[in-house]
Amino acid sequence: MAGRNVLVGGGTGFIGKRLGELLRKSNYNVLNVSRMPNVTSISWTSLEQSGLPRGSVAVVNLAGQQTMDFTKSWTPGFKQNVINSRVFTTKALATAIQKANDKPKVFVVITGVGAYEPSETNRYDESSPTTGKDFFSRLLIDWENAARVDPPVRLVIIRSGVVLGREGGMIKNMIVPFFFGLGGPLGSGQQYLPWIHVEDLTSLILFAIENENVKGVLNGVAPQVITNADFTKSFARAMSRPAFIPVPEFALNYLLHEERAMLMTKGQHVTPTRVLEYGFKYKYDNIDAACKECAHLL
Ligand SMILES: NC(=O)c1ccc[n+]([C@@H]2O[C@H](COP(=O)([O-])OP(=O)(O)OC[C@H]3O[C@@H](n4cnc5c(N)ncnc54)[C@H](OP(=O)(O)O)[C@@H]3O)[C@@H](O)[C@H]2O)c1
Repeated sequence: MAGRNVLVGGGTGFIGKRLGELLRKSNYNVLNVSRMPNVTSISWTSLEQSGLPRGSVAVVNLAGQQTMDFTKSWTPGFKQNVINSRVFTTKALATAIQKANDKPKVFVVITGVGAYEPSETNRYDESSPTTGKDFFSRLLIDWENAARVDPPVRLVIIRSGVVLGREGGMIKNMIVPFFFGLGGPLGSGQQYLPWIHVEDLTSLILFAIENENVKGVLNGVAPQVITNADFTKSFARAMSRPAFIPVPEFALNYLLHEERAMLMTKGQHVTPTRVLEYGFKYKYDNIDAACKECAHLL
């Protein structure tokens, strides 16, 4: 279908698969950029050498080495991989867009709420500054800078909260312990947990592709602000299991490294002011409904 092609970096992952399904349902052709090219994916080298495939109306980047891969120690080499897999892939797509004669209308990059300094008192929306004080907010600055493209291509940066869905991310990591009644709040449980259901995040990406007035930074979070303890209660209720066993902060710091563990032990109060101003409608705007949808073992 001419003029309905979307190129997705990292489209083979948890969010990417769901986005691909939604795009195809909405009559787009989807081509991924992957480290393992096949009939539905081109390689990063091919993107660099041959440029943007013709007829791409939108480009999305979802590529990134999983930070919470518990089989990998938090070594300088792994940290570099976490950075490069986001910054270099975003830069490669931005460069291909800049060089293309036949330009896409929009470049959507999914980053994270790590842009905002963790705090129990600060309140953040899209107008809040990024501080670059810790590893993740420094990464976010480099990642988002790598995305720069010139108008008329619209740049949309979606700073996503924790993405809730059965097939990946946090829920996939915690569903088995919760099933056996071994779940509980992480650290104090009082840290904020910015979240979004995967169906809403993929709908927001489609909304950004299709609405020509959408541009700039959007906070990809649900409007309901919750803490880690609220999430734990809601998920345990949805699983019909108790969740009384807290995981102490020192244990997470010891097992995962303090710098990485802060993704779980610290949080930010983030609201999606611009997303709501654009009139985006959430399907899952409260955590109980989102947990109910994800809380099944198979
Ligand atoms: N899941 C969340 O809760 C969440 C929250 C906020 C932000 N995000 C961001 O959203 C993006 C997608 O998340 P996801 O949960 O869908 O991740 P995912 O399931 O791990 O998928 C990411 C994709 O990135 C590619 N990738 C992995 N390591 C790479 C590397 N070293 N170099 C280049 N590409 C690599 C892989 O594609 P190939 O194997 O095909 O190359 C993989 O399928 C990530 O950038 C993540 O930081 C996710």
